[in-house]
Amino acid sequence: MAKIAIQKSTCGRSCGVTENVAACADAGETWTAVDLHERLDRVAALLRHRLRPAVTVRREYGTVPPVECLPGQLDQVFVNVLANAIDAVGDAGTIVVRTSVTAAGAGEGPRAQVQISDSGPGVPAALQARLFEPFFTTKPEGQGTGLGLAVSYGIVERHGGTITLESPPGGGATVTIAIPLARTTE
Ligand SMILES: Nc1ncnc2c1ncn2[C@@H]1O[C@H](COP(=O)(O)OP(=O)(O)OP(=O)(O)O)[C@@H](O)[C@H]1O
Ligand SMILES: [Mg+2]
Repeated sequence: MAKIAIQKSTCGRSCGVTENVAACADAGETWTAVDLHERLDRVAALLRHRLRPAVTVRREYGTVPPVECLPGQLDQVFVNVLANAIDAVGDAGTIVVRTSVTAAGAGEGPRAQVQISDSGPGVPAALQARLFEPFFTTKPEGQGTGLGLAVSYGIVERHGGTITLESPPGGGATVTIAIPLARTTE
């Protein structure tokens, strides 16, 4: 009985998130060249109320030209990753948002890179492979659906980009998002 109730409530929460994502994707968003720094600043402002007083957010912005993307969807990636960093640092710590352009590689153009690092506890090596699985969460019920990184992965893939999370043994985590400057996908 209890098990059924838990499954039902989990479904209720996750369906809500999925619907929001779908609604966003269906909003007829068009590919647009945007200033990533403006978008990142806006997302940071949106989440500012969740920062505890002893948490510092540092911006280390490089020179990045406009990036052709689905801006609302990319905002969702930034919200998800920044929210995770805020959860990870808890009462005190540092979050760094860094941007740069990576050089063009063989057969591909240059990419905008956004790195969000936090001084939280990081992710145990044994769990790192599961982070992008839908519904994988270590957060208490009611706090995490486990969809943030899975949804972000899908959005970044739609942009022909990559998203990875690195967490060294000493703690801390860095999420790296790389997106082609010019649209490469349909
Ligand atoms: N910066 C981070 N530091 C430590 N652990 C992290 C970090 N980012 C993600 N994780 C781990 O990855 C898990 C999955 O993250 P994900 O964003 O997909 O889901 P969530 O945050 O648990 O829930 P939500 O759907 O609300 O985002 C988290 O529960 C957490 O264990
Ligand atoms: Mg999350």
